[in-house]
Amino acid sequence: MVHLRIVKQLVMKEVTLRIKFREYETTAQLPEKDNELILKARNAARNAYAPYSGFRVGASVLLENGIIITGNNQENAAYPSGICAERTALFYASAQYPNIPIIAIAISTINHTSTPSEIAKPCGACRQVMAEYEDLAGQPLRIILDSSDRILILNGIDSLLPLRFKKEDVK
Ligand code: THU
Repeated sequence: MVHLRIVKQLVMKEVTLRIKFREYETTAQLPEKDNELILKARNAARNAYAPYSGFRVGASVLLENGIIITGNNQENAAYPSGICAERTALFYASAQYPNIPIIAIAISTINHTSTPSEIAKPCGACRQVMAEYEDLAGQPLRIILDSSDRILILNGIDSLLPLRFKKEDVK
């Protein structure tokens, strides 16, 4: 009797994901609306309540109806009770204008002299929140990451949060 042994080969494939953004050297290269969002995010950062970290962040959110909402980080003596600038702005926008799509966000950080500092890099929780509103809007969120010497623009959250958890995953 002949025994046939079938050897199943395990297949592994390596997948590379690419992220994409546009980089600008000055705000002069940007459309007027982006500049307005950046200026508002920088101004919002100046009003941040960040006595513990000293790291001041501002965000401005553009709604489809043209309204711009701003927010900044709000810290607290009980550290985890604070919240980032992005979520302050996004949650306020959604609370006040529940059915209006959020189409763009600009994020700035400023240093102690109130001038823009390093490129703004939203935390993981804020990326997840941006993703939710992008899905609700049904169009890619324009994400503007500001700094003193360059501005990055991303078309949609996928480049900041690939393989993300979505509301369909909850069902
Ligand atoms: N922070 C933001 O507001 N946005 C970010 O994208 C990163 C961090 C705040 C949270 C905290 O108040 C301070 O920056 C230091 O982490």
